[in-house]
Amino acid sequence: MASAEEYALAMNTQVPLPATVQFAPDYPIVTERLALRPFSRGDVDAVYSYRSREDVSEYLFDQPMTHEECAEAVRARAGQIAFSNEGDKIVLAVERRDDARLIGEVSLIWRSVSDLQGEIGYIFHPDAHGHGYASEASRALLAFGFEVMGLHRVYARCDALNGGSERVMQRLGMRKEAHFREHAQFKGRWDEELIYAILEGEWFAPATSR
Ligand SMILES: CC(C)(COP(=O)(O)OP(=O)(O)OC[C@H]1O[C@@H](n2cnc3c(N)ncnc32)[C@H](O)[C@@H]1OP(=O)(O)O)[C@@H](O)C(=O)NCCC(=O)NCCS
Repeated sequence: MASAEEYALAMNTQVPLPATVQFAPDYPIVTERLALRPFSRGDVDAVYSYRSREDVSEYLFDQPMTHEECAEAVRARAGQIAFSNEGDKIVLAVERRDDARLIGEVSLIWRSVSDLQGEIGYIFHPDAHGHGYASEASRALLAFGFEVMGLHRVYARCDALNGGSERVMQRLGMRKEAHFREHAQFKGRWDEELIYAILEGEWFAPATSR
């Protein structure tokens, strides 16, 4: 397999961006096994293959999506590739480099400009669970958030029953900050939400297991 640098060079896609953009990754973002890139129209079937599933949406606010809803989501995501203002979000398709299969998506939201806060999220096809892909892709977004955007704190949230998601946060070096008990209704039951976060100083600290 090509090195990350060779792969990035070969696949580089210059995307024209408006002048208001403050931060945008050079696409694709290449990691050891993955490439994170903007969504495009041809991704609808791949997105439908995981976002239509009950097991994938179990702990998401979304319900399983129809093909048309996936097409709409892909259209929206194709434009979510850069940060201009607070609240902006990038949502990137995650491709496995060795077979170019789209296996999931990761997101980074610019939650606060003045307080330098961000939030990450991740959703993967069950076929691709259990290989560390979600952690690898999310780590690349943390690197962009801390090392390019200069964020001070990045957090992630999950349902307390979503053990796979909680372990991703732990693997990323995030600390548990909160466990909200029965604070909202979620799909017909009381929601239990965990918040995990990592600070800039923790990200740059030497000798971590990330
Ligand atoms: C949350 C979710 C992304 C986690 O997926 P995952 O495959 O468990 O997470 P990773 O890709 O980081 O893989 C880690 C697992 O692979 C294993 N693994 C195998 N090879 C690995 C490697 N090279 N590096 C790291 N982990 C590896 C780990 O041991 C770990 O297994 P464990 O959690 O049983 O200990 C996935 O369950 C999902 O998409 N769920 C549906 C959507 C969702 O709920 N999203 C989160 C909303 S908050």
